[in-house]
Amino acid sequence: QNHLLGIEPLAPDEITAILDLADDYVTLNRSEAKDADALKGLTQVNMFFENSTRTQSSFEIAGKRLGAHVMNMAMEASSIKKGETLIDTALTINAMHPDLLVVRHPHSGAADLLSQKVNCAVLNAGDGRHEHPTQALLDALTIRRRKGRLHRLTVAICGDIAHSRVARSNMMLLHKMENRVRLIGPPTLVPSAFGELGCEVYEDMQEGLQGADVVMMLRLQKERMDGGFIPSEREYYHRYGLDEAKLACAAEDAIVMHPGPMNRGVEIDGTIADDINRSVIQDQVEMGVAVRMAAMELLARNLKARRTEAA
Ligand code: CP
Repeated sequence: QNHLLGIEPLAPDEITAILDLADDYVTLNRSEAKDADALKGLTQVNMFFENSTRTQSSFEIAGKRLGAHVMNMAMEASSIKKGETLIDTALTINAMHPDLLVVRHPHSGAADLLSQKVNCAVLNAGDGRHEHPTQALLDALTIRRRKGRLHRLTVAICGDIAHSRVARSNMMLLHKMENRVRLIGPPTLVPSAFGELGCEVYEDMQEGLQGADVVMMLRLQKERMDGGFIPSEREYYHRYGLDEAKLACAAEDAIVMHPGPMNRGVEIDGTIADDINRSVIQDQVEMGVAVRMAAMELLARNLKARRTEAA
């Protein structure tokens, strides 16, 4: 692949290749000597048009550990504020010869659009409701390491599926790797069309969680609800918040995941989120650095090969 725009175009063996390389980087990141040189001399530009804690910081750490020159564009201080378009901003950065462009944008398709205008590898760090491929890859690595495999598992994705790029990317990845995916939430937040993508849809949390190996909780994405129906947090927690009674319906050794940011007491009980025997939320953050190192290294290899061929 020339870019990482989504999970949709990836074949299962490409997903496995990223996860295998990321596994090596987990080992490196846990050692004292964290530096490698896969991106030595390359320039990585991070353009985040939406807020981020985990994704932006882990892309920055990943690039620096691999020897790249990393520039975080301060979008609030950029000429976007003076009316410059996304395309013109990208063309301006492209003229400075970056090698890797990491883009987060509120509009679905923004990363794809940019990839058609620039001469470097583009990584989608989340575009609207569309995809968040590195999140699904880090979730997959977390599952594979904790459950010992990434196939024939029952994964329950719970909550605001409708507005979630994390859910879309995970659904696609988990299906490609031959897992069973259940979507659980109120009908307003789980469009029935997702059932046609091969997922089982449940309105009742306790029913949907029966025997699940993995319980993936999602935040209510109020910023994407466009003035539509927003459930009361109290009622939502009662019906869909992960508490002890609901989690007891899942498999005894089920793991609990959340991509963050988390709203404790809304979609998840804080005690469950902090229970390191069941919650792998901090593991997910750790895997994020390793997966982004692997994804950027593989794209950089392809970029160098294309440039050598063209020379
Ligand atoms: N999971 C995730 O994308 O988190 P951030 O918004 O903090 O990057």
